[in-house]
Amino acid sequence: MRGMVSSQSPIGVFDSGLGGLSVLKELALAMPEENFIYLGDIARLPYGTKSQSVVSKYSLSCANFLVRQGAKALVVACNTASALALPQLQKTLKIPVMGVIEPGVKAALRLSGQTQENQILVLATEGTVKSEAYLKEFKLQGFQETIKQIPCPLLVPLAEEGWFDHSITQEVIETYLSPFGKTHRGIFLLGCTHYPLLEKSFKKVLGEKAFITHGARVLSQELKDLLAKGNLLNKSRQPRNLTFYSTDHIRSSLPILNALFDREISFSVVDL
Ligand code: DGL
Repeated sequence: MRGMVSSQSPIGVFDSGLGGLSVLKELALAMPEENFIYLGDIARLPYGTKSQSVVSKYSLSCANFLVRQGAKALVVACNTASALALPQLQKTLKIPVMGVIEPGVKAALRLSGQTQENQILVLATEGTVKSEAYLKEFKLQGFQETIKQIPCPLLVPLAEEGWFDHSITQEVIETYLSPFGKTHRGIFLLGCTHYPLLEKSFKKVLGEKAFITHGARVLSQELKDLLAKGNLLNKSRQPRNLTFYSTDHIRSSLPILNALFDREISFSVVDL
């Protein structure tokens, strides 16, 4: 497959649903010349409650679809897929494959360095929390403090529903965070692609100045550097293409999604 890709080939991005649009947004901002193909596996959402073998199987089928579309590199935007299936995808595919866990930890550690705040709370799906992928990565990157993790599965359907800034979403966030006390201090690492879409609700609960982060920006810069090294950055002056696929029709309110990209988004339904 690798032989068929060129610098103008698109970057493939997949997620279990619409949450990965939060990652695509950062990628698109960091690399304005690049073409992207996004796949949201809406039909099989959520990944966060499923076993490793099922998440791996689904992830491989998403990845193969994007490779068939000619992707020159693959971003596993989904944290759960990154936690449970990244090594297998990297071994199987012949194009560069990047996940979101390592960049997420880098982002949190940078923020920790800037703020002198050592208390880190990872919010993620059940699958990601149980895999301990974040805990292992923090250790690998030399962080010695105890990391707390909290599964927040209800936030996924709220994001898919488009309830980004909603009192119910705020109440759910409050409830998940209540075991950690009333004064929400520390760094909040959003370890699920859907949660950054709820940023306004998070800020209403945690305060405007809360230390909230995730890996999308670091990932975008690292992918850009990787493509530059492989001479795969798109230098063409053509207007770039953003193509959106999903494995079932989208129920959420598209105006909210359009606002993310300042353009009309339309998804084509595909059968993997
Ligand atoms: N997109 C998934 C993630 O980042 C969460 C949603 C799901 O459970 O499928 O982990």
